[in-house]
Amino acid sequence: METIKNKTVLISGANRGIGKGLVQAALDKEVKKVYATCRDLDKMPDFNDQRVIQLKLDITDKKQIAKVASQAGDTQILINNAGVLNAGTILEGARDKIETDMNVNYYGTLNMMRAFAGILEKNAPSKIINITSIVAYSPLPSIAGYSASKAALLSATYSARIELAKKGVMVHAVNPGAIDTEMNKGIDWDMPSPLSVAKTILSSVESGELDIIPEEIGLGMYNAWKEEPSKLAKMFHNMYHGE
Ligand SMILES: NC(=O)c1ccc[n+]([C@@H]2O[C@H](COP(=O)([O-])OP(=O)(O)OC[C@H]3O[C@@H](n4cnc5c(N)ncnc54)[C@H](OP(=O)(O)O)[C@@H]3O)[C@@H](O)[C@H]2O)c1
Repeated sequence: METIKNKTVLISGANRGIGKGLVQAALDKEVKKVYATCRDLDKMPDFNDQRVIQLKLDITDKKQIAKVASQAGDTQILINNAGVLNAGTILEGARDKIETDMNVNYYGTLNMMRAFAGILEKNAPSKIINITSIVAYSPLPSIAGYSASKAALLSATYSARIELAKKGVMVHAVNPGAIDTEMNKGIDWDMPSPLSVAKTILSSVESGELDIIPEEIGLGMYNAWKEEPSKLAKMFHNMYHGE
């Protein structure tokens, strides 16, 4: 088991949801330091722990990323959690929302991987953990732009995994189904808490799992996809058409 104890971790979108859960879960795992980053530091919760260093970071802003990279040069585990979800279909969804999802989820995360690859190589053995989504495997048409951005991100994650394989940097993909966060506001499903999912993510990383499905809803979808990709497409067809 590869423990994350005593490691230095950087987490994007750490002010709420899964990111906030990941900060707490990392502290519970006795990490050395957490760079908890978010767009607006006024929104950052007080983690009440001296190991937490708060940094302002919008992952679409390359200047902010460069500054954070210079402040957090001892990062050993980069957790790319920040993301946005806009509803809309591929044919009728607002074009600017589709672009926003792509700019944050794909290009923003790409910015982070590119800025930190050298740092992680220098600090190896190290890790990148990208939070993608189960819809990276098969699109849900009501959130088509989001699905496309996460499929692109999963592809980039797999490319980086191979590119960094001999440089001591392990690249993990986390593909959740549904978690009880702002992103799923209004959805009436029985979803796990972000903290419980964050704990599962970090334990799975420690176990060396590269592709992590951290909760039951996602696991059901993933198993359907693994059995036969058209099975997950059919599930999403039925969900979209209310069948
Ligand atoms: N919840 C789920 O069921 C689920 C399922 C699959 C994947 N995911 C993924 O899990 C990750 C976390 O989502 P969540 O469920 O915790 O949702 P959330 O509560 O909406 O949190 C999203 C986080 O991303 C941050 N963010 C958005 N745009 C950003 C940017 N340009 N730069 C930096 N931070 C930015 C938000 O900051 P602000 O507060 O400033 O907006 C917030 O901290 C996302 O990548 C999401 O796609 C979630």
